[in-house]
Amino acid sequence: MSAAPAACDFGLIGLAVMGENLARNIESRGYSIAVNNRTTHVVDDFMKRFGEGHKFVGCHTLEDLVKAVAKPRKIMIMVKAGKPVDELIDHLLPLMEPGDVIIDGGNELYTNSIRRTKYVESKGLLFIATGVSGGEEGALKGPSMMPGGTPAAWPLVKPIFQAIAAKVGPNNDIPCCDWVGPDGAGQYVKMVHNGIEYGDMQMICEAYLLLKTTLGLTNAELYDVFSEWNMGELDSYLIEITRDIFSVKDPDTGKDMVDLIMDKAGAKGTGKWMSQLALDLGVPSTLVTEAVFARCLSALKDARVRASKVLTGPTEKYTGDKKNFIESVRQALYASKICSYAQGYVQLQAAAKENNWPLDFGGIALLWRGGCIIRARFLERIKEAFDADKNLENLLLAPYFQDAIKKSQPAWRHVIETAVKLGIPIPAFMNALAYYDGYRSERLPANLLQAQRDYFGAHTYERLDKPGTFHTEWIQLRKDPS
Ligand code: 6PG
Repeated sequence: MSAAPAACDFGLIGLAVMGENLARNIESRGYSIAVNNRTTHVVDDFMKRFGEGHKFVGCHTLEDLVKAVAKPRKIMIMVKAGKPVDELIDHLLPLMEPGDVIIDGGNELYTNSIRRTKYVESKGLLFIATGVSGGEEGALKGPSMMPGGTPAAWPLVKPIFQAIAAKVGPNNDIPCCDWVGPDGAGQYVKMVHNGIEYGDMQMICEAYLLLKTTLGLTNAELYDVFSEWNMGELDSYLIEITRDIFSVKDPDTGKDMVDLIMDKAGAKGTGKWMSQLALDLGVPSTLVTEAVFARCLSALKDARVRASKVLTGPTEKYTGDKKNFIESVRQALYASKICSYAQGYVQLQAAAKENNWPLDFGGIALLWRGGCIIRARFLERIKEAFDADKNLENLLLAPYFQDAIKKSQPAWRHVIETAVKLGIPIPAFMNALAYYDGYRSERLPANLLQAQRDYFGAHTYERLDKPGTFHTEWIQLRKDPS
C-alpha cells in the first residue's frame, strides 16, 4: 500500500485520534512506522491524508503489520482498554516471535497490566504497559510517557519513546519519559496522575464557583484572574486552559461557551480506580475520592433542580474586599493542591511497597513536568523535595511545602469560612484542609472510636501508657445509667 520501507522501526494498531497522533509523532522523529486498524478504511484514509512523502506503511491485516516491522518487533496497541486489548494480544502472539515487544498505550487498570506482563512473558515476548498523557495534542507534539512492564523491553523502545516525549529543562532536552518500574508500575503512576488531575480540576472549579458566586466576576474578569494566576506559583496547563475557556464564544449564539454547558460531569474511570485502590491500601486519598463524588453529585442534575426549589441555605451576600478575596482564593487553591499531590504521592509510596516496585518519586515528578495534563511549574519543587529526601514521608513535611502552607493558611481558612457562611459547596478545599489539620494532629479522637469498637464488639485496643492489646468489660465498669 505504500512505497515506504518494508522493515519498519515500529508498528502501531488502533488509529483513533490518540493512535493516529502518536503514529505521526513517531514518524516525525525520523522513524518508519507500520500502521493498522481493525476497520481497514481507517488505514486507507490515514494513508491518504499522511502517507505521501512519509515513512508510513499502511497494513490491512495484523499479519501484514507484523511482517512490516523489523525484529525485534515493537508493536504498540492503542485500542479501547479491557477485553479488546486481551483479544488483540491473543491475535498477535502467534504472529510475533520471542524477543518481540508488545506495548499497550491505553489507560488500563494496573492489575490487568500485571497479568498481561506475566502472560506475554510466558510466551517468550516482552510487554510494556505505558501511561500516555497529554490528550490529542500531547500525543502529536510530545506526551508525557510512563512505561512499565518487562524491564528488558525498555532499552528496545527507549530511543523512540524518549524521542517522541515532551522535553523540559533549561535546554529543553530532558524527556518526560523514563522507565517507571516492573509490570503494572507505569499504569499505576498514570492512574495517580489522573487522580491528581481529577483533584486539580475540581479545585479549579471550586475557585471558579467562589469567584463567580461571591464576587459575581464575569467570564472576561475570570479570564484576567486566571491569566494572572498562571504567571505565578499556580502556573500550569490546567490553569492555562481554564483561562482560555473563559474567552471562548459559542459560534451559533455568540454567548460565552462555558455558560451554555450543562453542569453534569462525566468520567471514564481512572479517578474511581484510584479511590478504590486507596481504600484497598488503607491510605487517605480523600481529594481524588471527593473529586469523584463531586462529579457524581453534579450528575444528579434533575434531583438538584428539584431540591433547589425546596432546600434552604444562607442568603447573605459577600461584603468583603474583592481584590483580597481573589488573592485568598488563589492561596486556598495552592494550599489545597499541595495536599492533593501529597496524598497522591503517599498512595504511590504505599502501592510501591505493596507491589515491590522500586519507584523514583522525584523522577516521576519530572515525567509530569511536561506534556501531561497536570504539568505545572510546582512539580519542580516536588522533584527537589524527593531529591533532598528520597524517603520523604509526606510532601507536606518538605520545607518548601511546609512554608507554602504556612503562608497560605490564613487565606485558606478565610475562604472556607466564607464559603460555609454563604453556603457555597467547595468540598475539595474543605477536604484538603481537614486532611491537613488531621495529619498535623498528634491526637485524634480515634481513642474514643477504639473504645466504642471494644465496647460493642470486643475488638480490643492499644494503650498509650503500656504495650499490648487490651479489652475492657465496659458494661461492668460503666456508671449505672439509671
Ligand atoms: C491524560 C488524561 C486522559 C484521560 C482524560 C479523561 O492524561 O491525557 O488523563 O488520559 O482519559 O483526562 O478522563 P475522565 O474522562 O475520567 O475525566
